[in-house]
Amino acid sequence: MTVTVEHLIGAGWAPSVSGERFESRDPHDGALLASVAAGGREDADRALSAARRAFDEGPWPRMTAEERRGLLHAFADLVDRDAEALALLDTRDMGKPIRESRGMDLPRVSRNLRFFGDYAAMASSEAYPDGTRLSYVLYPPAGVVVAISPWNFPAMQASWKIAPALAFGNTVVLKPAEQSPLTAARLGALALEAGFPEGVLNVVQGFGPEAVGEALTRDPRADRITFTGESATGRAIAAAAAANLTPLSCELGGRSASVVFADADLDEAVAGALRGSFTNNGEVCLAGSRLFLQRGIHDAFLERFVAAAEGLRVGDPKDAGTDIGPLVDAGHREKVDGYVQLGVREGGELLCGGGPPGDGALAGGSYYAPTVLGGMHNGMRAVREEIFGPVQVIVPFDDEAEALRLANDSDYGLAGMLWTTNLDRAHRMAEAWRTGMVWINCFFERDLRLPFGGEKASGIGREGGRHSREFFTDPRAVVMRRRY
Ligand code: NAI
Ligand code: MG
Repeated sequence: MTVTVEHLIGAGWAPSVSGERFESRDPHDGALLASVAAGGREDADRALSAARRAFDEGPWPRMTAEERRGLLHAFADLVDRDAEALALLDTRDMGKPIRESRGMDLPRVSRNLRFFGDYAAMASSEAYPDGTRLSYVLYPPAGVVVAISPWNFPAMQASWKIAPALAFGNTVVLKPAEQSPLTAARLGALALEAGFPEGVLNVVQGFGPEAVGEALTRDPRADRITFTGESATGRAIAAAAAANLTPLSCELGGRSASVVFADADLDEAVAGALRGSFTNNGEVCLAGSRLFLQRGIHDAFLERFVAAAEGLRVGDPKDAGTDIGPLVDAGHREKVDGYVQLGVREGGELLCGGGPPGDGALAGGSYYAPTVLGGMHNGMRAVREEIFGPVQVIVPFDDEAEALRLANDSDYGLAGMLWTTNLDRAHRMAEAWRTGMVWINCFFERDLRLPFGGEKASGIGREGGRHSREFFTDPRAVVMRRRY
């Protein structure tokens, strides 16, 4: 069934001023899912006007944090009510296994909404009474937030941006990725149903460069830009934002290291590294997509790891038993395959995968078999550049100093995973690792109070807990002198 998706601007749905549209297709079989409004400059303008009016004149920024918390909880309740339908939409839109949409993504959407509603309502503020002087800090909302999200966790990434922006009293224009427009539109509808005032959450659809995305980032009416996507896009958006000095937060690409020491619990490490490589079809910014193995366990580990990768079930992402679905589209599969072929030319040894799976039933989709390349090193482009697919490269190392040097030898610095039973080593590594996040004997676990973001080409700024408040508000110092 094909649906029609328009922009949510203010309280209503509208096609693009230009009338232009684009198609959203299912990467499993190419079926047409939706005809979507392709936004341009005029649509960005209308959405920003609606958000501006809702901020400057509407009730939202003037409510108490407790009142906003109530609406965010109501929003989360509706997400939970519709979780199964939303999970299926994300899975059909971009190919992630339904088990993950259901078990990981959708629970995180409602958790983000509730967490930031609660956090804003319970956050404390500084006050410094000192003699006859009282100094304190206000956290007024920044204003209109432009949120631009990627396709790999469509509903989850959208909620990670809109939840804190809304909780701290801002109004929002959300632009989801053109590859995965469907759940963002549904979230906009649920916010209206939950009772959000009109114009508080606007959702525009379409492309980035020379389209609605770029227009949003160039507009002086945007008070904040929060972006997640590729590092190259982050550079373009930072340049656009610079013209208006619009503060921005960018969560960008990664090529994170997963380091397994010989003293690790091998069962845990194999299972953890496997998740770090192949969760969400490997289309994960945080993926531990460079696997460093200490020589003592290199062969034993690799044998088990490759067997486990070969055992992953590639198939229709709507089946609950599927581990790996199709990649987001055929163009992305070509990019992933290009890197695998490059890795082989650079001297890597193909240990499994290396192309589309043999299963004829999957021939109509953009599937790629889980792939492992052995004998790699940091000088290779297939090790340095972001692949963003179900591809793992194996690099051997001798000792801790070498592991740290190799892990840090990257243009990126988003995450790091470490498998060891040596406590001193774990803490030493965490201190010296140039990365926004270090996981010790685990992967993907998150406390939403922690800072989230990357170093180097992996990002600018941090979000999460109080870091989100710093970004989405304009902290104001108030100093009063008592006159008696
Ligand atoms: P992308 O950068 O191609 O697109 C992301 C969004 O930016 C889309 O909504 C797109 O329409 C928009 N866009 C593109 N050019 C624009 C422009 N000039 N102005 C305004 N908007 C523009 O990223 P993609 O391919 O959707 O997602 C994959 C990338 O996202 C990977 O590099 C991945 O590492 C990164 N990512 C980072 C995460 C993090 O938290 N650090 C999390 C998830 C993905
Ligand atoms: Mg892209």
